[in-house]
Amino acid sequence: MQVQATSSQAESSPQQKVPIHVAIIMDGNGRWAKKRGLPRLEGHRVGVDCIQSLLETLSAKGVQYVTLYAFSTENWNRPEDEVQGILEILYDALRVQTQALHENNVRIVHIGKRGRLSPKLQEAMIYAQELTCGNTGITLNVAFDYGGRDEILEAVRRIIQDRVPVEDVDEELFRSYLFTADSPDPDLIIRTGGELRISNFLLWQSAYSEYYHTPTLWPDLDAQELERVLESFSDRQRRFGRVDPED
Ligand code: IPE
Ligand code: IPE
Ligand code: MG
Repeated sequence: MQVQATSSQAESSPQQKVPIHVAIIMDGNGRWAKKRGLPRLEGHRVGVDCIQSLLETLSAKGVQYVTLYAFSTENWNRPEDEVQGILEILYDALRVQTQALHENNVRIVHIGKRGRLSPKLQEAMIYAQELTCGNTGITLNVAFDYGGRDEILEAVRRIIQDRVPVEDVDEELFRSYLFTADSPDPDLIIRTGGELRISNFLLWQSAYSEYYHTPTLWPDLDAQELERVLESFSDRQRRFGRVDPED
């Protein structure tokens, strides 16, 4: 796998606009499994296996940051065996894939709450993050026990704790207190699984993100569809509230 972030290595055509940061709501694992008569956890397992080839495709295009929504603050409300199964799958994935990601120059960053994860999962996450923190390739933000509202509240708490003067609290200061402080806002948010909602993902950061929804269930999202998603992004006119000069 070659996962490099430099845009000089991008395979996309010169005219194609490539998102710098792609964030993905990886939804539909349970339905994917159910359709096949398999337990839901099998869907989560296959869903994690899809990540590597997805990163290769995005990286080859010149994408520099990828944020994957893997487990929300609300997902704790699922049945205990599913929650424990997902935690195990993440642990296994970190154990098995961290070294290969490191060799491919990927920087792994956890975004979300760490304290509610099991000690061994916390350790694996910290190890992956510390091992890869100096890497200069694609940044992979793993949103695990992540909630946009929780992130905003946590930022407010820390700003108060730091006794930041009121006049210093502006957008730039606020974003530096978010879990995603090291990444630019996502240019493109993809949701698989057909739902048309944000489900508490990147609430602050998505202010001007482009959205792409697809009914494809996460484990079925392949490189061809991802290419089409990127083409769709390239055709979008982003105005950020302004009027286009040619309009
Ligand atoms: C997304 O797949 C993964 C997590 C939320 C952990 P789901 O488990 O939500 O799959 P569906 O939506 O039930 O098909
Ligand atoms: C969103 O999926 C969270 C993740 C993909 C991790 P959900 O399946 O939890 O979202 P809802 O419940 O359909 O809104
Ligand atoms: Mg779902």
